[in-house]
Amino acid sequence: MKKLVIFASGSGSNFQAIINATKNQDIHAVIAGLIVNKKNIGAVERAQKHDIPVALLTPDDTHQFEQQLEKQLHKWNPDLIVLAGFLKKIPERIIRKYPDKIINIHPALLPKYGGKGFYGLRVHKAVIEAEESESGCTVHYVNEEYDKGDIIAQKKVPVQPSDTPEILAKRVLKEEHKLLPSVIKNILNQNN
Ligand code: GAR
Repeated sequence: MKKLVIFASGSGSNFQAIINATKNQDIHAVIAGLIVNKKNIGAVERAQKHDIPVALLTPDDTHQFEQQLEKQLHKWNPDLIVLAGFLKKIPERIIRKYPDKIINIHPALLPKYGGKGFYGLRVHKAVIEAEESESGCTVHYVNEEYDKGDIIAQKKVPVQPSDTPEILAKRVLKEEHKLLPSVIKNILNQNN
């Protein structure tokens, strides 16, 4: 059985979509563990509810983060690492150690509205302020540059003139919950 390790920093609704897809056998893999950088977040509750091991990493610096991640990932030995709303930069040594094995979901149509500072509602606010007529979500490989790795898949959604960042976020999130599990499924199938 293939093994997934998920990283999250927030409510974990994308994490939940992955849990659901493994439960209903859409994704043939086990979630070996969840890595978080905050304690009291929805993602942790979801993991506990489904008996998924959680590693809380609160390093003092990048070097320590690298060491903690290396140890944890060595233990869980994932076939694929999924950043599902993880808002901390992955150290370069980890990216080099897991080439083409780390993917991220971003709530915009990259390369637009990506990079440092573009996360969560800030992304949707920027899209609305720029009067874009469409937005969406992107799943991409993670490389050393923030939100710049090769794009794997995107899904567009319309932006309505009356949208607030919250309304747009909801519309995009709904698509994220479909796009991310489908990409995971495809990658795991390709590597069979
Ligand atoms: C998602 O919209 C995800 O695309 C975004 O954080 C949200 C997490 O929601 N990620 C980023 O902005 C990364 N730059 P969730 O915790 O409910 O899955």
